Amino acid sequence: MPGVWAVVVAAGSGRRFGGPKQYELLAGRPVIEWSVCVARAACDGVVLVVAPADVAPHRSADAVVAGGDTRSASVRNGLAAVPDDAEVIVVHDAARPLAAPELFAAVIDAVRGGADGALCAIPVTDTIRHAQHGTIDRAPLVAVQTPQAFRAAALRAAHNDGADATDDAALVEAAGGRVVVVPGDPANIKITHPEDLVIAAALLGTRP
Ligand code: C5P
Repeated sequence: MPGVWAVVVAAGSGRRFGGPKQYELLAGRPVIEWSVCVARAACDGVVLVVAPADVAPHRSADAVVAGGDTRSASVRNGLAAVPDDAEVIVVHDAARPLAAPELFAAVIDAVRGGADGALCAIPVTDTIRHAQHGTIDRAPLVAVQTPQAFRAAALRAAHNDGADATDDAALVEAAGGRVVVVPGDPANIKITHPEDLVIAAALLGTRP
């Protein structure tokens, strides 16, 4: 897959976790290592984005850069370090250490197939309630995950005006891009609260 680069964002402060969750150990390895290693295996190049104080060379990343105040700002800093000739850029949250290589392949393939972007998502299983409008129909709702893959030019253009969103697909769509959805993986959980580390370790134990 020539020209496929990953931007792994790991510059969050882990406010809800109570500290920088990306450096917590999961089955003996920091969370961030799991995420960088799967990106390394699935892509030609990897840019790792970390907090300014944590910038240091990483053996599995081609570049390590400082993040920004928001996730989108961190992605933009990562994009600046991706070579101009990259064709596809995959953005992945370091907080999702259990993303499988097959998930990367699925979103990359969808972009190779002609989409401007591709995200993975799973159906919502909880009943969802809107603070003002009460319970809403969950049937059309999905929970969005990373990795998300994009035509490099579409992702760069979507980030041009410095907009913020909780994921990159939203920015690419707001810029007029066509984003497709591929099946996500319920095991691809985001480490958000301390309990998630326990669940992630248990899920790892079920892998062959
Ligand atoms: O906060 P949340 O869990 O949504 O963050 C998703 C990912 O974005 C995490 O891997 C986090 O480290 C990263 N992030 C970042 N820079 C920020 C905020 C979040 O790289 N300023």
